Amino acid sequence: MKVVEFVKFDEKFLELSWIWLNDLEIKVLTNTPDFTQIDQRRWFESLDSKKDYEIWGVTVSGIPIGVCGLKNIKNSEAEYWGYIGDKLYWRKGIGEIMMKHIITICKKRELSVLKLFVLENNIAAINLYSKTGFQKQLAVNGLLEMIKIL
Ligand SMILES: CC(C)(COP(=O)(O)OP(=O)(O)OC[C@H]1O[C@@H](n2cnc3c(N)ncnc32)[C@H](O)[C@@H]1OP(=O)(O)O)[C@@H](O)C(=O)NCCC(=O)NCCS
Repeated sequence: MKVVEFVKFDEKFLELSWIWLNDLEIKVLTNTPDFTQIDQRRWFESLDSKKDYEIWGVTVSGIPIGVCGLKNIKNSEAEYWGYIGDKLYWRKGIGEIMMKHIITICKKRELSVLKLFVLENNIAAINLYSKTGFQKQLAVNGLLEMIKIL
């Protein structure tokens, strides 16, 4: 059985996320803007000081495959984001495991609302979020807000 783990987002994940987020398909699906390696390094070095942000590397049987996290953690709300960078691991139930793990963390922290933004044409992701209990809210400029009451 493959074991999915949520681990520290370290230099190894930093290097891989550079590759993953520069893959055109993933860049588009995750709505990632252009960025340089200097931007990325600056962002990485700011992580420890960010109080409203958390990030985890995702491994399957020890192999790094993706990244997920929470941002804009404020009062009783947070915003989920995540992607599987290694396409060999798409459609194997891991996205669902990632989401369920994050929901469990949010519930333990007594957050009451989890939201996310997804491109309106990212059907795979929208299906995953609907399956895990998110409701569609307004779409603005092609970006759909989805919300789950915890
Ligand atoms: C979107 C993503 C997180 C889904 O994770 P995944 O591990 O591939 O999905 P899972 O295997 O856990 O599937 C869970 C559900 O998602 C939906 N889903 C996943 N892939 C799908 C696809 N290609 N087409 C339609 N629905 C899909 C289905 O509802 C599925 O449930 P089912 O298996 O009972 O049909 C992953 O494919 C990914 O990271 N893609 C690239 C980046 C991205 O789009 N990130 C999200 C940005 S908001």
